[in-house]
Amino acid sequence: MKKYQVAKRPGAGLANSGIWLALAACCVFLSSCGEKPAEPAKPAAEGAAPIAKKKIVVGFSQIGAESGWRAANTESIQSEAKKRGIELKFSDAQQKQENQINALRSFIAQGVDVIAFSPVIVSGWEPVLQDIKKAGIPVVLTDRAVDAKDDSLYATFIGSDFIEEGHRAGEWLAKATGGKAMIAELVGTPGSAPAIDRKKGFEDVLAKNPGMKIIKSQSGDFTRTKGKEVMEAFLKSPEAKQITALYAHNDDMALGAIQAIEEAGLKPGKDILIVSIDGVKGAFQAMADGKLNCTVECNPLIGPQLFDAVEALMAKKTLPKHTGVLESVYEQSQAKDALPTRKY
Ligand code: AHR
Repeated sequence: MKKYQVAKRPGAGLANSGIWLALAACCVFLSSCGEKPAEPAKPAAEGAAPIAKKKIVVGFSQIGAESGWRAANTESIQSEAKKRGIELKFSDAQQKQENQINALRSFIAQGVDVIAFSPVIVSGWEPVLQDIKKAGIPVVLTDRAVDAKDDSLYATFIGSDFIEEGHRAGEWLAKATGGKAMIAELVGTPGSAPAIDRKKGFEDVLAKNPGMKIIKSQSGDFTRTKGKEVMEAFLKSPEAKQITALYAHNDDMALGAIQAIEEAGLKPGKDILIVSIDGVKGAFQAMADGKLNCTVECNPLIGPQLFDAVEALMAKKTLPKHTGVLESVYEQSQAKDALPTRKY
């Protein structure tokens, strides 16, 4: 496990040279030649106002507001900052990497204490991360990771194991279908960590189940609108009649697809089995209504973990490079009982 690297003071390399010995000797000489010894600090006068603690300032670049999951994630971060009295400079990138990079540069210019962000895609972050490192500002990645080779460019990553989520979705479907399924896949944002890893995890399971095949696959960009559009196109394609199952990389796309399936005169959850990822309330409602079969939880409520990390960094503590998030898998039979206590 690597530690977050703090930039070295210029000239630190002199520490081993004889120059320091000579300087030290001079200081001893000067102090013995009439310089007043420093006065001990006086205790604060009784009744005086306590010295105010400096407010921590965090710059956070959010991906956007593409899904119910994202809305819950934003709420968790904003409310936790408020609860702890941390000043949060929040910026919404509307799913565009260039907006995120501009926000990160503006956080450097504003001299925030810590920068946190959920990178929309995995690649292309090194130059801005190098600049943040040069400015001596620690970085916390939340939700999605980056593919930077040098992991000293960030202090820690707090987020789910998306490959494992893909495994869980695949294993659920393999069990539910006895290993036989013709699958339509709604992929997340191209180049994003959850889209890459959830596909990989799911395909690992297919490799062990030759009766399960992906026959249609396209991105729905993690949104309900695109999920519906793409599912409509799948259902008009020559392979439409072969589709027996849908794997959606998030609940919002699955919920859009459910509408498309119903409009095509089919029964979602029966004619086409549906498994998706996130565990938002809308998915639990769809399971309770018999229209969605399974949701693999991806927990967005990571505000408390983020600000624990921020406070640890302010206290100059070293953090693990990755902290996971606790998650489960839910089926239709659990939906009604779970709904009243779902927090997002
Ligand atoms: O990165 C997490 C994913 O991003 C969630 O599964 C999805 O709903 C969101 O948009």
